[in-house]
Amino acid sequence: MRLSALLALAAIALPYSVAEAAQDPYSYAEPDRVRVRHVELDLALDFPARAIAGTVTLELDWRDAQALTLNLDTRELAIERVEALDDAGHAQALRYTLAAPDAELGSRLGIATPTQPARVRIAYRTAPAASGLQWLDQAQTADRQTPFLFSQSQSIHARSWIPLQDTPAVRFSYAARVRAAQGITVLMSALRQPAQGDVQSFSQPRPIPSYLMAIAAGALAEQAASPRTAVWAEPSQVQAAAREFSDIEPMMQTTEHLYGPYRWSRYDMLVLPPSFPFGGMENPQMTFLTPTVIAGDKSLVSVVAHELAHSWSGNLVTSATWRDIWLNEGFTTYVENRIVEAVYGKTQADEEFVVAAGELQHKLQSLSENQQRLAPAPREVGADDALTDVAYVKGAWFLRFLEARFGRAVFDAYLRDYFDHFAFQSITTEQMLAYLRANLVDKHPGKVGWDQVEQWVYAPGLPESATLPAVPAFTAIDTARAAFLEGTLGAAALPAKDWNTHEWLYFLDHLPEAPTLAQAQALDAAWQLSRSGNAEIGMRWLPRAIRAGDSAAWPAARTYMLRIGRMKLTLPVYRTFASTPAGLAYAEAAYRAHKAGYHPLTRQAIEKVLRKAHAQPEAIR
Ligand code: BES
Ligand code: ZN
Repeated sequence: MRLSALLALAAIALPYSVAEAAQDPYSYAEPDRVRVRHVELDLALDFPARAIAGTVTLELDWRDAQALTLNLDTRELAIERVEALDDAGHAQALRYTLAAPDAELGSRLGIATPTQPARVRIAYRTAPAASGLQWLDQAQTADRQTPFLFSQSQSIHARSWIPLQDTPAVRFSYAARVRAAQGITVLMSALRQPAQGDVQSFSQPRPIPSYLMAIAAGALAEQAASPRTAVWAEPSQVQAAAREFSDIEPMMQTTEHLYGPYRWSRYDMLVLPPSFPFGGMENPQMTFLTPTVIAGDKSLVSVVAHELAHSWSGNLVTSATWRDIWLNEGFTTYVENRIVEAVYGKTQADEEFVVAAGELQHKLQSLSENQQRLAPAPREVGADDALTDVAYVKGAWFLRFLEARFGRAVFDAYLRDYFDHFAFQSITTEQMLAYLRANLVDKHPGKVGWDQVEQWVYAPGLPESATLPAVPAFTAIDTARAAFLEGTLGAAALPAKDWNTHEWLYFLDHLPEAPTLAQAQALDAAWQLSRSGNAEIGMRWLPRAIRAGDSAAWPAARTYMLRIGRMKLTLPVYRTFASTPAGLAYAEAAYRAHKAGYHPLTRQAIEKVLRKAHAQPEAIR
């Protein structure tokens, strides 16, 4: 950002300095000195050894004539050789040091570069327990025939499988050649090139941040949904997946109509095994998805709308640091809801937003003031702590507020220009605000005060200007729920036969955290909630049934915990069990039996819950 813009923003009563916020504290890279602009990968997948091994060649853009070191991020990588390459491709060995690992950041790889080479090549090998990779035995896949590998780089795990500048502030194009055994299809966040023998090749010509580096490999089948989209999954899953995601082309056309052309050529989706730790991940040209979104009735496809929306908000215009992540997730949650509105109607879009808003309001009570800010004070949040409802829902709510004040036509045009203006750039909250002020707020005076914008972005909690759409079906559900809880309406008499998934989620979200045993048993008897195949319903119901003291729900909860590796869904069940000694013992036994099947991130998160329960039982809810 130019200094004048910085000074203009300094008038804002920030709880911290803007200059401090522009630094990425989660990377050892020094992008002001030297920047990676292109990456070439030449890798081999070694399934028996659970290792990726090969070379990465980094094309460098030197920005500081005095710079004599290239600092890269790594985590548990074995570095075998580092060399400089001249234009003719001649290699010259370089000296390097791999620093002692920091628990959060990993190890700084410091490469001595006395001559500022145009390219540096590193030969390396990943650790079997690399935090950004999961290696699955064939028994852990749906079809049980072939082992499986997938990566999850966001937030700072790309460094566990590629030595690079692992900060979203740096963007590079990439090309890859990956050797894999016969029968293994490799996919990456890039366009597939024709395979040659056992080498599969990829090309991503557009500059992307490192957290969008992605790879998956296994026995995979493809089913086209339109000329530019396809669904990939294990062969036995691909048909159900393609049916569930068949609206992808109308979703794309809607988004293009609103915000300009899709700029990444193809859009493909990959359904991963159940251990995938997130709902979805917006890897360019190849969204990764949890199988839990395949509910059979398209009720959870807003996850697909969300990952598609990232093709504009996040992948095209990217948050420069993890502290600015709401620029990715808040904008995306807003766009997601616009896609749902256009493809499935306003009622469904409103229902989904009101459910999310209710969850945010509940969650805010347990967050620190700093965590309640869209743009929190830097350094006080971990890089992986970004997945809170604040970045997503408060961020989207802020954009809904702007849309309501300026009107849809003006706001849609503004957002389209914003994506265009910052296309293929990584920006901070303050850069977004400077653009917002010049191109929306000051251009249409009298609609929104700048102090209101600052309150949304920098203050904790929710402003009074946060309003919600009226959802008549939800009002009726509130009435029915109240009557049920008062005992004037039996569980079987609830008018729930026609409730869609979102209406069920709304009903469940606003039940007491611990219903009475009689209430839980009556609801389960009437509506078989413990046996619901819909994972979002299970996540809301099972903890309540357990807290009600309904031990009949325990085996169902155990099955759920072992079936689902998506952290957002499985952790609430673990947390609930961990709140009583008997439940803790039960959850620990379940975890021990299934530990090997969980993703490294999920394992880490569950172990944290279990450890905390032992240390301070009263702190877990
Ligand atoms: N980019 C996120 C996933 C993510 C965020 C991974 C932060 C690691 C750190 C992805 O786009 C996402 O938001 N996924 C959501 C789904 C969505 C519909 C809210 C998820 O996984 O739950
Ligand atoms: Zn997202």
